[in-house]
This record gives sequence, C-alpha cells and structure tokens, in this order.
Amino acid sequence: MTDKHINKATIQFQKLLQDQLARVDRMSAVVEQTDYAVLNPIIVGILGGDGIGPFIAAEAQRVLESLLQVPLDAGKITFRVIEGLTIEKRAEVRQAIPGDVLEEIKECHVTLKGPTTTPRKGDPWPNIESANIAMRKELDLFANVRPVRVPSEGIDWVFFRENTEGAYALGSNGIDITDDLAMDFTVTSTQGSERLLRLAFEYANKNNINKVTLVSKANVVKTTDGKFLKVGYEIAKEYPDIEVDDWYIDIMTAKLIDPKRRTQFRVMALPNLYGDILTDEAAELQGGVGTAGSANIGKKYAMFEAIHGSAPRMVVEGRAQYADPSSMIRAGAMLLRHIGYEGQGIRLEMALDITGQFEKKLVMTGRKDGASSKEFCDYVLETINDSDLEQRWKSHQP
Ligand code: IPM
Ligand code: MG
Repeated sequence: MTDKHINKATIQFQKLLQDQLARVDRMSAVVEQTDYAVLNPIIVGILGGDGIGPFIAAEAQRVLESLLQVPLDAGKITFRVIEGLTIEKRAEVRQAIPGDVLEEIKECHVTLKGPTTTPRKGDPWPNIESANIAMRKELDLFANVRPVRVPSEGIDWVFFRENTEGAYALGSNGIDITDDLAMDFTVTSTQGSERLLRLAFEYANKNNINKVTLVSKANVVKTTDGKFLKVGYEIAKEYPDIEVDDWYIDIMTAKLIDPKRRTQFRVMALPNLYGDILTDEAAELQGGVGTAGSANIGKKYAMFEAIHGSAPRMVVEGRAQYADPSSMIRAGAMLLRHIGYEGQGIRLEMALDITGQFEKKLVMTGRKDGASSKEFCDYVLETINDSDLEQRWKSHQP
C-alpha cells in the first residue's frame, strides 16, 4: 500500500522536476529587453478583471489618458481594452487565463490590470490557478516591485519581491501523497534569484540609495532561502558602495512597525511568499492596501496592478462605485515611468501623495458616506493640473 503511494507520488514529483529544470534552462536563454523608446506605438492593454476591478481600472485609464493626451493624439501610444479576464470566463474554459485573452495580452507591450478573483478549495468556482500568478509565469514577470512611502514618518521603501519562484512556483502542483499526507514545494534557482536581486541592486545604485536589505528565513528554510541569501551577498560584491544587511522575515515583520528602526530600511529584496505578506503590512502603514501599486517586471513584458483583491462583496452590496482607485492609479504612475514618461509619472505620484495623504479633501470609506471613485479621480486630476503642484507637494515634506 505504502509503496503504491510512494511510487505514484514519485512519478508526479519527477514530472515537476523536469518542468522546473526546463524552466531554469529557459531562464538561462538570452531574452532581449524591450526598449520603449523605439516602439511606435506603445500598446497599453487595460484588463478590468473582476469585482471592483473594471470600476477602478476605468478611473485609472481616465487619469492616464489625461496625462498622455499629447502622445495619444500623436499616435505614439494606444490603449487597448481587453475583455474576458473574468472569473466567469476563466471558470467556463477552466483556464487561469483564457487562451484568446493571453494572445491579446501578448500583443500589448505593457498592461494595467484590475484585481482578479482567485478561487480556492470549496469555492463555487473550479479550483483554477490565480490569473495573477499565471500571468507572472506566462510573461515571465520575475520582479514584483512595490513602493511604500509615508513621508511624514520618514518611510520610503521599495520592495523587490521575487515573483515566479518560491512557494508560488508549484503552488497548484502540490501532491496529496495519501489521504493524510500532503506536500507542497518551494523552489529557488540561482538564475531566478540572481535576476531579481540584480534588479534591486541596480535600482538602489541608480537612485543613489546606499542600502539593500535581504529578507529570508534561511535559519530554518535552509536550502532554498539559503540559496537566495547566498546569491544576494554575491551580487552585493559587485556594488561596493551599497551596504547590504539581512533580516529574517519574522523580526523584519516586527521592525516594520517599530518607528525608530523602520526608517533605516530603503530597498528590500525577498522571496515570493515573504514579499506577498510583508508588502500588505507595509501598504497598511501607508493608508491601506487600497493605496499601494505594484509593478510586475520582466525583460520583455510588464504588468501593473493594484496589490489588493477584487472585493466581490462591494459589488454584491452595490458599493463598487465607492472603491478606492488609488492603488490602480499608483500602478498607472509606475507604468508611466516604466514606458519612459517619467515626468508624468512623478506628477501623478505627487498628486496621489497630496490627495491621499497630505490634504485628504476627500476621504474614501468604500461606502456612500465617503467619496466615490469618480469624485476621487476628479480630485487627483485637478491636483495634477495645478501649476503649483510641485510647490504644494514640497510644502508637505517634513
Ligand atoms: C498579490 C496577491 C496575489 C499573490 C494573489 C491574488 C494570488 O495577493 O499580488 O500580492 O499572492 O501574489
Ligand atoms: Mg498579496
């Protein structure tokens, strides 16, 4: 009996190993980096997603269209709204991303994506893989970059979360060995760690940030986290002007809420699952997960999204029009900077700081006692178009 179970699991495990080794080979192949400066037009895909997604995506698109009016009119940028990345369609075809939708996504150079519902065991939906995770894997978006800033507290963090490996690589491929024994796997490769860590150090270097913090649990998860940490210290040698330190994820989680210690962190690099958890905590300090944007970066493609979920309850309760669009709009600002519209991106970030943190003339509560997404978006647009924007932003710096 036992042998039968072990043999069956061994065959499943062999298949996983073959896939992972093939993935490592793919990572070693040279992929040309997209140069947005030579693209004409740059195609920006808009994916509404589920729940509140289409509502906040539409507001974010409105802001981007306003900031990009000149290149849009000149035909240098095109927006393309892609339908069908919904839980209903995904459930119907039983695919994390329906094939035709994936084709359309691949025709865009960058995408702005609303949150998508991730089914889990017991939900009315088939237990398909998360669309986020599938997109990160399909487009090889290996770095998840999540900035969190609270100027009044001296917080200015950028998290570089590894985005295709760790506990997520085989998250839908765990093995039920017997009725009583289940196993999941966590995966770390040299190539996967290297490309993420290099991006983090490069970012620090370019932005004159002299400190990178590596986060792991290498004292317990010795093999995979141990590799991540080792690769981190090796890459650090190439950047002698950048100080590097490392923290375990548990104490790191504690230190983010220690007002005296947390200001010393600037750039943090961490494996997938720790990055998922720590960035929600960090976003909460900035005003909630509804305020943080996220960039999923690969060599060829990039996808920008809110860090929160699809909040189906808000739709059921008729409150979708009160959803906070700032996370999506922040993702939009990251998209602008990524495709070479740095100035517009910075203005948008300033406007979001002013509207969401400094002045707060409108408050989002997610209900009708607060502002609607549209009202908030109008407030952001008014702020961007204020010729005194920069002065107004500077006057709030501590
Ligand atoms: C995120 C989300 C996703 C993740 C979910 C929706 C699969 O929480 O982007 O942080 O775990 O990565
Ligand atoms: Mg998350």
